[in-house]
Amino acid sequence: MTPDEQKRAAAAKALEYVQDGMRLGLGTGSTAAHFVDLLGQRVKDGLSVICVPTSEQTRDQALSLNIPLTTLDETPELDITVDGADEVDASLRLIKGGGGALLREKIVADVSKRMIVIADDSKLVKTLGAFPLPIEVNRFGLQASLNAIDKAARASGCSGDITLRMVGENEPFISDSGQYIVDCHFGEIPDADDLATRLAGIPGVMEHGLFVGIATDCLLAGSDGVRTLTVK
Ligand code: A5P
Repeated sequence: MTPDEQKRAAAAKALEYVQDGMRLGLGTGSTAAHFVDLLGQRVKDGLSVICVPTSEQTRDQALSLNIPLTTLDETPELDITVDGADEVDASLRLIKGGGGALLREKIVADVSKRMIVIADDSKLVKTLGAFPLPIEVNRFGLQASLNAIDKAARASGCSGDITLRMVGENEPFISDSGQYIVDCHFGEIPDADDLATRLAGIPGVMEHGLFVGIATDCLLAGSDGVRTLTVK
């Protein structure tokens, strides 16, 4: 199987968890897009679900497939969120935000009884951090926030470049919530729980891409099929 076929296989497995009448969170990214596509086929065949998308991109895709959408204001509790990840470790801690949607992704996953991560097995790592950790920061006081992130990271045993995400040469990437994303090139995050706590205490940090204690299941697709990891 190609990596893309593996992503689709994980997405197809996640669909087995979906039951009629469920309230779903729809993730963002290329793996989540497979899930939305397959869900659209089931909805066309009569499945009744109501969904909250985690990005404008996913909203557009879901609308194009006639998947019924709602908002967290109308539906503040969800049954399952299905989303991809940039990295996952054996304790189902994640790095997310490669697509810049981490804030909405975390808000949606946090109000879901279950968060099912779908991924190809290249995403499974021993220690998080090879993928640059995305952090969403307020546009006010960027340099002060960068300094505070660097200080928190060092106190947690991490170091490396912290860069403002750009689109093109001179234009910063702006999230769906109108904020900047910075990417932390730490290489390794020795204590993700500690770093998550420290980052959450920085006023300019709107949210960080460490998902700790949120994912409940991970469907990991490899050449031998899809295996399920659950929180121990
Ligand atoms: C979006 O902000 C991210 O959190 C994605 O879920 C993550 O980057 C995984 O994306 P892929 O499925 O495209 O690898």
